[in-house]
Amino acid sequence: MLTQNLPEYWERLYSSGKDYWDQKAFTPALEEFLASKLYPAKGSVLVPAAGRGYDAALWAEKGHETLAVDFCPTAVDALDSLGRTTENLKALDLDIFELSPDDDKKCGQTFDIIYDYCCFTAIHPGRRDELIEMWQRMLNPEGVIVAFFYPLTNGDTMDGPPHCTSEGELHARLGGIFDVVDTFIPTTSIEDRKDKEQIWILKKCEE
Ligand SMILES: C[S@@+](CC[C@H](N)C(=O)[O-])C[C@H]1O[C@@H](n2cnc3c(N)ncnc32)[C@H](O)[C@@H]1O
Repeated sequence: MLTQNLPEYWERLYSSGKDYWDQKAFTPALEEFLASKLYPAKGSVLVPAAGRGYDAALWAEKGHETLAVDFCPTAVDALDSLGRTTENLKALDLDIFELSPDDDKKCGQTFDIIYDYCCFTAIHPGRRDELIEMWQRMLNPEGVIVAFFYPLTNGDTMDGPPHCTSEGELHARLGGIFDVVDTFIPTTSIEDRKDKEQIWILKKCEE
């Protein structure tokens, strides 16, 4: 059986038109965030599980050196062609859990900003701590995570992906690793995500 840990799982959704998450355009709530006072206006950006890369391209168009990572052929093809026409945008075909700052084949650098939208929610919930470890190793010491948590349902469950989360779960997983330095509640969420998503800004805890 295919699981969401495998690129084939995602490829089947893309190729059968079941890529329900794909809005064919950047996320309006990201544009709203980038116009807010919380926007980190400078720095390199890592976008794990970038899909077709509309949001990654928006960061790049704002002037950020941006690396978009995915492991599914349809997504990687889309990212490659976007990278050819978008200044500052590069694509990497890799499992995000393999990202490494020390290995050039697996990225080979750290970032000032990591942007997560529909990555935390797409991976199996049993791998969430592993994802947070990846954020930790790929982020510069003074860097920020811009994490778009969705569906943030605080109690209701739903089969995933998307897999829901709650404020309690997030604080439990992040505690002692990342501090929540700000939250941003968008007003421009797409209809079926309204009131179910928040952007949390995270910084590494002081050692
Ligand atoms: C629900 S889509 C979200 C795409 C994009 N972030 C968006 O919001 O449109 C999830 C994406 O994550 C990718 N993905 C899932 N697990 C991954 C992994 N371990 N490594 C790399 N990409 C992964 C899938 O291929 C798919 O493109």
